[in-house]
Amino acid sequence: MNMIYRTYILVVFLFIALPTATAADAKAGKLIFDRVCVHCHAIGGDSKFAPNLKGIGERRDIVWLNKWLKSPKEVLKYDEYAQKLLENNAYSLTMPTFPSMKNDEKRANVIAYLLDFF
Ligand code: HEC
Repeated sequence: MNMIYRTYILVVFLFIALPTATAADAKAGKLIFDRVCVHCHAIGGDSKFAPNLKGIGERRDIVWLNKWLKSPKEVLKYDEYAQKLLENNAYSLTMPTFPSMKNDEKRANVIAYLLDFF
């Protein structure tokens, strides 16, 4: 393979790979949601153990969602909205902290998915 050809491949690769690697991926987020979150939350329809997440993008912003998913326990210490949510929660269940949500990329993907349901 000559040098020019190799450089060409590299440039094409960077153009294709970089944006997809950095942009949040709502489809990957759906897979996580369907495996982890769906046990408690619905998006539309009946939500059994936790708030319905339809329209969550109107209630909460990305910054809040990011902090919440990373550690609900931390947010509950200082955030009045979260404290009210817990108080009003009929199931006296609080949202657990998920190991997968410590991962920045996975968290971004789930948030992208949630924000699809404006
Ligand atoms: C074991 C049940 C449970 C699971 C699983 C769960 N949650 Fe929750 N979630 C809750 C509860 C309960 C609340 C209400 C706040 C509280 O009481 O802690 C909540 C609140 C929320 C809120 C704020 C809702 C609002 O109306 O403002 C968001 C967003 C959220 N969860 C997203 C998620 C995502 C994303 C996942 C999956 C990674 C997930 N939850 C998994 C129980 C759960």
